[in-house]
Amino acid sequence: MKVRKAVLPVAGWGTRFLPATKSMPKEMFPLIDKPIVQFIVEELLSVGIDNIIFVTGRHKRAIEDHFDFNPDLENHLQQAGKENLLEDLKNLSALINPIYVRQKTQKGLGHAVSVAETVVGNEPFVVALGDVVLEKPEENMKKLLGIFEEFKGSVIALTEVPPDQVSKYGVAKVKKLKGDVLIVEDLVEKPKPEEAPSNLAIVGRYLFTPSIFPCISETTPGKGGEIQLTDAIRLLLREEKVYAFKIEGKAYDTGNPLDYLKTLISFALRREDIGRDLREFIKTL
Ligand code: UTP
Repeated sequence: MKVRKAVLPVAGWGTRFLPATKSMPKEMFPLIDKPIVQFIVEELLSVGIDNIIFVTGRHKRAIEDHFDFNPDLENHLQQAGKENLLEDLKNLSALINPIYVRQKTQKGLGHAVSVAETVVGNEPFVVALGDVVLEKPEENMKKLLGIFEEFKGSVIALTEVPPDQVSKYGVAKVKKLKGDVLIVEDLVEKPKPEEAPSNLAIVGRYLFTPSIFPCISETTPGKGGEIQLTDAIRLLLREEKVYAFKIEGKAYDTGNPLDYLKTLISFALRREDIGRDLREFIKTL
């Protein structure tokens, strides 16, 4: 079955970024001149997924506006002769078929995914976290879909992290299956380094069969009183095989100030128009 839909959870409070996130979603913070969430939407579009279900909240309207047409701005750009900018803006709004569902109370990532259940229906779907961007988005999204096509089961993307950092992530115990495809044996949410089964962290890209939904319903609140997606995947493991792979390139977390800055600088240094000047500037600091 072809994967046609993706769930993009963007309803979190972003407390690690207050006061900036009081009225501005962290998913709309720019990486130079493009909001983080647009990188993720482009990643999904690159593999032909245009039915994008945003799980939003009442403080996240800017995201809906960003993916809509803006006739006033479009008129202005037309009159100012800025056709290139105009095309880019209109293309993005035309390419995506967004659906917005509200998570009325922020009860965690697992809960956010379950809010999309009626819209997803009985079909496989991708989940892409709204505050994680990948260095190689298209390659990794293709890999996620490819493993699903071959093995017909849920898939999670992993990356190696330094062993002393594992307590920030969901961590997987895996076994090699075939080539670079892994099979998941267990998962632990934010383990202490001495209790971690590996240093392979979940990076925020998943592909689920619809069997995940009843597992989320069964999941009781875990760390921080939130319904954790990782705990729901552990329940899924009792019923179905779950596959995994190590992503190519880096995964950038943008959900806290330091990692956001590291991401911003990495992206800016790679840009042809500003990268060289920025590098020279950094050397002078
Ligand atoms: P995070 O845990 O990084 O986001 O969730 P958060 O809860 O906003 O962060 P802090 O701890 O308060 O700073 C990863 C992604 O899942 C979404 C977030 O918006 C983010 O894009 N999320 C998280 C939801 O949609 N709903 C939730 O209840 C929690």
